[in-house]
Amino acid sequence: MKQAVFSLAFLLAGAAAAAAPDGKALYTSNCAGCHQATGQGVPGAFPPLAGHVGALLAAPGGRAYLEHVVLYGLQGKISVKGQTYNGVMPAFGRLKDAELAALLNYVSTSWGNRFPKGQKPLTPAELAKVRQDRKTAAQVNTLRPKTVK
Ligand code: HEC
Repeated sequence: MKQAVFSLAFLLAGAAAAAAPDGKALYTSNCAGCHQATGQGVPGAFPPLAGHVGALLAAPGGRAYLEHVVLYGLQGKISVKGQTYNGVMPAFGRLKDAELAALLNYVSTSWGNRFPKGQKPLTPAELAKVRQDRKTAAQVNTLRPKTVK
């Protein structure tokens, strides 16, 4: 009986883990190769996410822009903290909505980033909705908030 209770506890723990993907682990395996584990990026090649994603979230349209970037990638000239980037970021649409939400929530609350006041963490449903709005990596560039330099 005791053993049955334990196995049930393990099963439930496993189910909970499956329901909430590990944003940090997803970042490490999908993003850190370019943006670095510290989120600092590589100047001139890969823009920093540290101390920057909060500004994107706070800008008009910035939250939807972030979601588009991971779903469809990004191509074209951008400027981040006074440095110009003109590269190509691959799309991560193969990841599930819940994985992308967990990943972006990790990025949005790490390395000095935080959600602007009143903004809640991203949900899988929100990602699913943006997924319907198909874009090319170059089109995503046009969604970037003009107020973020
Ligand atoms: C192969 C390298 C590479 C990988 C892997 C990568 N990125 Fe990028 N990322 C880039 C490049 C290059 C840019 C700038 C693209 C440009 O110049 O238009 C960028 C831009 C961004 C931006 C836009 C910043 C801004 O100010 O507009 C965000 C946000 C971002 N990446 C997040 C992520 C996340 C989250 C992941 C993991 C799911 C990821 N990236 C994986 C290379 C990469």
